[in-house]
Amino acid sequence: MADTRRDMLKAVPLFADCDEKQLDFIATQVDEVDFVAGRDLCREGAAGGEFFVILSGTAEVRRQGRHLRELGPGDFFGEIALLDGGPRTATVTALSEMKCLVLSRGQFHNVIRQNALIAVSVLQTLGERLRSLLVGQAT
Ligand code: CMP
Repeated sequence: MADTRRDMLKAVPLFADCDEKQLDFIATQVDEVDFVAGRDLCREGAAGGEFFVILSGTAEVRRQGRHLRELGPGDFFGEIALLDGGPRTATVTALSEMKCLVLSRGQFHNVIRQNALIAVSVLQTLGERLRSLLVGQAT
């Protein structure tokens, strides 16, 4: 695989601990996709089919109309609906032009199955997000 593509993946914190063989495999599973500002990448309540890793640009996460967080380069989203098969927990909207790595459900599962460190990172973030959703419910 071209070094530039490997370097691009290696610069993503989620993939930073992967060796060359693992990066080469991940490269076969991801698509680089551009999105225009204003585009909803996930819609709260809708079925979820993709996992996103932000390469450039920013996005806003909202739930029930309330701002939860801004996400930027290196952040990922869309993991919850892919892991439990339920609807999207929040709406994620591009605040600027964005470039993302996009993985289908099957590709996301392939990647987390091949590397336990990636699975643990996703689980850690999932825990933080569920906790913040619970706090949001209590207020
Ligand atoms: P999913 O529910 O599949 O689709 C919406 C996504 O928004 C969700 O996965 C998470 O990736 C993300 N998300 C949900 N809650 C938060 C939060 N509190 N902070 C950051 N991201 C969140």
